[in-house]
Amino acid sequence: MTRLTLPPGFLWGAATAAYQIEGAWEEEGKGPSIWDEFTHTGGKISDGDTGDVACDHYHRYREDVALMKSLGLQAYRFSISWPRVLPEGKGRVNEAGVDFYSRLVDELLRAGITPAVTLYHWDLPAALDRLGGWPAPEMAEYFADYAELVFRRLGDRVGLWITINEPQVICSHGYVRGDHAPGHQSLAEGLRAGHTLLVGHGMAVQRLRGLRPGAKVGLAVDLNPMVAASESEADQAAARRGHALANERFLDPIYRGDYPPLMRDVLGRLVPEFTEDQRQVVQEPIDFLGINHYSRWLVQHDAEQPRPQVAEGAASLPVTAMGWEIYPPGLRQMLCWARERYSPRVVYVTENGAAFDEEPEESGRVEDGNRRAYLRDYLVEAHGAIAAGVPLRGYFVWSLLDNFEWAWGFSKRFGIVRVDYETQQRTVKQSGEWYARVARTNALETE
Ligand code: FCB
Repeated sequence: MTRLTLPPGFLWGAATAAYQIEGAWEEEGKGPSIWDEFTHTGGKISDGDTGDVACDHYHRYREDVALMKSLGLQAYRFSISWPRVLPEGKGRVNEAGVDFYSRLVDELLRAGITPAVTLYHWDLPAALDRLGGWPAPEMAEYFADYAELVFRRLGDRVGLWITINEPQVICSHGYVRGDHAPGHQSLAEGLRAGHTLLVGHGMAVQRLRGLRPGAKVGLAVDLNPMVAASESEADQAAARRGHALANERFLDPIYRGDYPPLMRDVLGRLVPEFTEDQRQVVQEPIDFLGINHYSRWLVQHDAEQPRPQVAEGAASLPVTAMGWEIYPPGLRQMLCWARERYSPRVVYVTENGAAFDEEPEESGRVEDGNRRAYLRDYLVEAHGAIAAGVPLRGYFVWSLLDNFEWAWGFSKRFGIVRVDYETQQRTVKQSGEWYARVARTNALETE
């Protein structure tokens, strides 16, 4: 057996997002989000699931914090529901909503757990969608105002901030493919949305700098190795384009001041231009880079359209219940690539994990050896990235709890803790026990 030790102070955490766990979708003054509307308009989500109740975390947050404490977790990444604190997205504050997050933060601190707060994990206030949503440039200002409100109310107790979660997914799924809220299908809108997200991110970073100079702020991007689905030159070129359009698209503007040249070559005048002001705002230095990572993408050329396509069903490696290939070296590759290209000061893995179709045994135990193996193998690669010089300071497993997996509803389970949605009972899975040991010992044991 080999024992791999992580650097002292390495932060072991778990991640969730508001819409996926909170429930209480219209309680105590919360306004509707685009996800409330999307799930309530039939036919969009597997089995017609909604996040109306989800894991009922809004009412059970104390129990959930106690659970994290019992697992020895040192950090918890959660998101704030924008319409819970600003029901119309701007203007009137819902004090009950702010109070919920304030109590959650206090509870975490009492348990010795560092809160890492994501400001935007996809639940845009529906009222702002009616004003044009992310494709509308004004959203950047509204986002910065919302961020400032949260910084003012929680900033005395929260040291780690993530502005936006996975801007690439927001654009491609929400505005181009339309399988996520708000369900639009327009490449031009997707590109405009991405632009506003970048400006909003930069403005929020600036507001925080002004208010809380000591706070640490970054964003979480999803990075995936792009692998050509075949040897053909057309597919190889598609993989290179995919890399620019997905991996470099948001980080190039933040760290280098403009979209990657290949993106302009492929999409031409659809790609927005940065004004000089915007360029500066977007480049406001961040303290850390959050990387979400699950799999690699097999990419193929599609003569019909310039955007490279993910080759569905072409997997050649074992897959998770999402159909995502299990390819642990991809994590090290993307961490090392990000370090090479952008030299981030600090890096966190802000999400990594796997869905599997496990069922509890009669005793109630969940023997999810496949998830444990996935986490172990990916963590070995994270360890390798540190050895290669990546300033990786922490890891957040996705997810603490089984939860509402967007278009897949409750059919996909990512938790290290099982949730019985009938009774809301939480059961730590075998992978959760394993992860708790890793967190406590700061070491990985590999067979
Ligand atoms: C990521 C999302 C997260 C979760 C995982 C499986 O893209 O950020 O909310 O759904 O995928």
